[in-house]
Amino acid sequence: SPAFAQSTPDSNKIVVAHRGASGYLPEHTLPAKAMAYAMKPDYIEQDVVMTKDNRLVVLHDHFLDRVTNVAQIFPSRAREDGRFYAIDFTLAEIKQLSVTEGFNIKDGKQVQGFPERYPIWKSDFKVPTFEEEIEMIQGLNKTLGYDIGIYPEIKAPWFHRHEGKDISTAVLKVLKEYGYTDKASKVYLQTFDFDELKRIHDELMPAMDMDVKLVQLLAYTDWNETMVYNGKGQAQPYNYDWMFVKGGMEEVAKYADGIGPWKPMVVSDQSTKGNIKLTGLVKAAHQHGMQVHPYTFRADTGRIPAYANNFNDMLDIFYNTANVD
Ligand code: G3P
Ligand code: CA
Repeated sequence: SPAFAQSTPDSNKIVVAHRGASGYLPEHTLPAKAMAYAMKPDYIEQDVVMTKDNRLVVLHDHFLDRVTNVAQIFPSRAREDGRFYAIDFTLAEIKQLSVTEGFNIKDGKQVQGFPERYPIWKSDFKVPTFEEEIEMIQGLNKTLGYDIGIYPEIKAPWFHRHEGKDISTAVLKVLKEYGYTDKASKVYLQTFDFDELKRIHDELMPAMDMDVKLVQLLAYTDWNETMVYNGKGQAQPYNYDWMFVKGGMEEVAKYADGIGPWKPMVVSDQSTKGNIKLTGLVKAAHQHGMQVHPYTFRADTGRIPAYANNFNDMLDIFYNTANVD
């Protein structure tokens, strides 16, 4: 989330505030979303997972331990793999937790992403519900006269299904309740799971008299291990290859309005992972009438130069000078 994006009058491009203003405040907290709103993006993103009592909360992971103090507050509630799954906690319990800057375990130690700000365990941001966040965005839209949209991602549908929960139906119910019902609604609904997005399009939305815009997310294949549940709380490889064979794009175009590739899939990128650009991906998507919404733009990574400290500069560089086919 680079500094102070402007709104984008050019309708060919949209700006999505990824996890809110997550470069400045702990991701997916309401302060991060309010700050994102003030930057006037076109859409604000929500990653959505489910609680034990079937509430939807805005959280990137389907476990709580990367960004909250859950291990301190509920030390005995981890599963065998040591993780604290949101689905094992009620909303009331999750509301007792403090959200901090994300951290990872490196060499057995907690390493915080941004150690200089909001030191771990000292801040008291909360996990919002999906509804709380929509109400804030819609309230600001009414107050300020903007029409900033939402961009929810259904996280880990396979995991929720395994736990006996239909997260997609729950998300669609909330969207309908808040007036996001058709393609004119200011919403894109996204997920990495091909089968689930197709089910949303073919079965769930028609049954609920809904037809919102859908985006098929594409992951870098090295991340596949995070995609599919193996029944033990762990994950297994997920096969994206079919997408890139003849006819794959046509299949996606039957149910999706756009694809969401990782940025290096559409821009030659030698920075961290080598060149994984999928030649022809953008053109093929456009030929099939689909939009392309790459993620994620950051001022300090990839091929976006450091001088591009404004989002429009970054978009110009991306579209005009980067090797986008
Ligand atoms: O919108 C796509 C993007 O959000 C997917 O990445 O891991 O940040 O949810 P992630
Ligand atoms: Ca996301």
